[in-house]
Amino acid sequence: MKILVATEKPFAAAAVNGIKEIVEGAGHNFALLEKYTDVDQFKKAVKDADAVIVRSDKVTEEIVQAAKNLKIVVRAGAGYDNLDLNALSASKIVAMNTPGQNSNAVAELAVSFMVYMSRNQFTPSTGSELKGKTLGIQAYGNVGRLVASIAKGFGMNIIAFDPFVPADIIKADGVEVASSLEELYSNSNFVSLHIPVTPQTKCSIGYALMNRMPKGACLINTARKEIMNEEELVKILSERKDLKYITDIAADNQAELEDKFGKRVFATPKKMGAQTSEANINAGLAAARQICDFFATGNNKFQLNKF
Ligand code: 3PG
Repeated sequence: MKILVATEKPFAAAAVNGIKEIVEGAGHNFALLEKYTDVDQFKKAVKDADAVIVRSDKVTEEIVQAAKNLKIVVRAGAGYDNLDLNALSASKIVAMNTPGQNSNAVAELAVSFMVYMSRNQFTPSTGSELKGKTLGIQAYGNVGRLVASIAKGFGMNIIAFDPFVPADIIKADGVEVASSLEELYSNSNFVSLHIPVTPQTKCSIGYALMNRMPKGACLINTARKEIMNEEELVKILSERKDLKYITDIAADNQAELEDKFGKRVFATPKKMGAQTSEANINAGLAAARQICDFFATGNNKFQLNKF
């Protein structure tokens, strides 16, 4: 079988070497396409591939059509909004992700964002401390849970809202449970977003929720830009001159935001939450193992689609 790693944003070299070792060790052929600049390069590389490992790379219907031998796609990471599951299912191609494997890297970045904004983007003007402040976690999954655990070390109070996680599980971590999103935002000096993009969450964070935040609060987005209502973000930041927004996924209107709001907003130059060698190794090697296991035994534990 030919197993292709197709990553516009490459894995660390150690992860690529590890993936190659697993693939070849299982008797398969390894192929690599990194830093591609055109979708045609992906189409060409995937043509005779039996399996593909991607990151945020878009696996569209066009890619699926070009990949005549494809049997499995693994998104080395958590969010799979980049995979067209309908197109994959229609061609009977298994889609998987590797949940939890890169969570710590994202959680560490989210917490560092709080420090960065509290210290005025590392400028010497007087900042504030995290100790004693309240952090609201929107979605208590793999990343949210780790953010809570790290933030506790700073002496923060933690509240979480997650309708899909039983309250007992959240409380067992010493985290308070908010009964609604409104309650979460009203009581949090920081809100850290850890929701996926779904039809329900798309464009769901905007004026009404942010306007509930206490004076001087900061919204932290290491999730996806699509969950933000960008027009409403401009409106609330214009009206509430005390609020701040920091993101790992630049808004489509990021230039406008920076122009209008200066140091109250910040975006990393390129999404970097999962860009550590540890996360790349964890997620990349898990993806390679899942593919080899799928070919060897049919194990489909992390399958996302049904057909
Ligand atoms: C994820 O969903 O796993 C993260 O957003 C990481 O995405 P990346 O692999 O593109 O860095």
